[in-house]
Amino acid sequence: MRVAVFGAGYVGLVTGACFAELGHDVVVRDILEEKIDALRRGEVPIHEEGLDELLERNGARLRFTTDVDESVEGAEVVYVAVGTPPTYSGDADLSAVWTVVDELPRADRRIVVAMKSTVPVGTGRTVRRRLDERGLENVGYVSNPEFTAEGTAVRDFMHPDRLVIGAFDPADAEVVERLHAGIDAPVIRCDVASAEMIKLAANAALVTRISFINEIANVCEATGADVITVAEGIGLDRRIGPAFLRAGIGFGGSCFPKDSLALKQLAANSGYSFQLLNAVIEVNELQKRRVIGKLERRLGSLRGKKVALLGLAFKPGTDDMREAPSLVLAGRLQAEGAEVSAWDPVADGSVLLDGVRIAGSALEALDGADAAILVTEWPELRELDWAEAGARMRKRVLIDGRNMLDPAEMRGYGFDYEGIGRAAE
Ligand code: UGA
Repeated sequence: MRVAVFGAGYVGLVTGACFAELGHDVVVRDILEEKIDALRRGEVPIHEEGLDELLERNGARLRFTTDVDESVEGAEVVYVAVGTPPTYSGDADLSAVWTVVDELPRADRRIVVAMKSTVPVGTGRTVRRRLDERGLENVGYVSNPEFTAEGTAVRDFMHPDRLVIGAFDPADAEVVERLHAGIDAPVIRCDVASAEMIKLAANAALVTRISFINEIANVCEATGADVITVAEGIGLDRRIGPAFLRAGIGFGGSCFPKDSLALKQLAANSGYSFQLLNAVIEVNELQKRRVIGKLERRLGSLRGKKVALLGLAFKPGTDDMREAPSLVLAGRLQAEGAEVSAWDPVADGSVLLDGVRIAGSALEALDGADAAILVTEWPELRELDWAEAGARMRKRVLIDGRNMLDPAEMRGYGFDYEGIGRAAE
């Protein structure tokens, strides 16, 4: 089949590359000429496991363009994978979506617009109305949300837990399902609003689990229990399950913070206060900041103290720093008067962190530091020569924000080590 993908960001590129892998002819369209030029030269603008190989292997079935007509020509399905960032009010900014809808050229055959961008419930209905107003009755509309996580997006796309296809017309759903032939997963066929809500509710369920385990961790700290053992103990209950029970310094990224805010706002706009989600968001904000207290208990005032942030990306396997806890930590530390150094194997911290010294290696970031915070659980940090790391620091205070390291081993290296939700020494 012929597929057009609007948007060459994380979601659009993965979607385009995976459909090409499934044997379809794909044209990816973006408004940024530099990006399209780079993609044509074979350069991949993002760090995503397996994406480079996929783009290269399927080069013959993939084209990149800035031209709307060229991308839509002959396409049976037009995927919308543009950004929907939050506005000041917390609502999703849908301007990029509307631009795509308004730019869609007339066609003498049926085209299905498939929404991959995360949008508020009700967007599909509005898009439908807008298409009808333009006289584009032969353009169908389907909500086909994505559940891929950064770092594992290619695998998640090719081996999803489920496909969700919400449509106004069953024939359109049929086309989108056919596009996924070769992917073995249960398919939920439903109305458009429910598909839109499945996406938001899935992310809300996941963030609720994270804030839940983080609060359990905080109570563990106060009472002497160990959250890792507790998570294992509750995760074995089949009704609860083990996933997304890793306590830490809070969730970040381009999706969870934005989508939880959007759902909270969506509810509020309809006159409903989503109290549980409000608490989940609040807990997450506090969780990022709790680390500062852990440092102050050891170092007193942080004024003039050197603190190293190990890892900047919101999670390992990606260069994405959107809403990363590292941003809040760097800001809080600087506000307390600390000197901050930072290292990440791929994320480009220099763009975002004003006044932070970006080091070329983890060891360099630790030179002369009074404390280190493990922010992102990069495998490189597990392998770090921690004896050498300690030797380079002025004081061996180590806060493990992801419970990645072995407490006994770190204490063996002379570190005053504390994780999240585990007994301090
Ligand atoms: C998330 C969802 O997992 C995807 O299913 C969804 O499609 C995507 O958002 C989206 O809406 O586009 P992603 O943001 O890439 O994917 O990353 P996750 O692996 O889910 O991690 C998000 C954050 O939660 C990270 O900061 C991570 O450190 C944190 N996290 C995750 C925890 O603190 N504890 C956990 O147990 C799991």
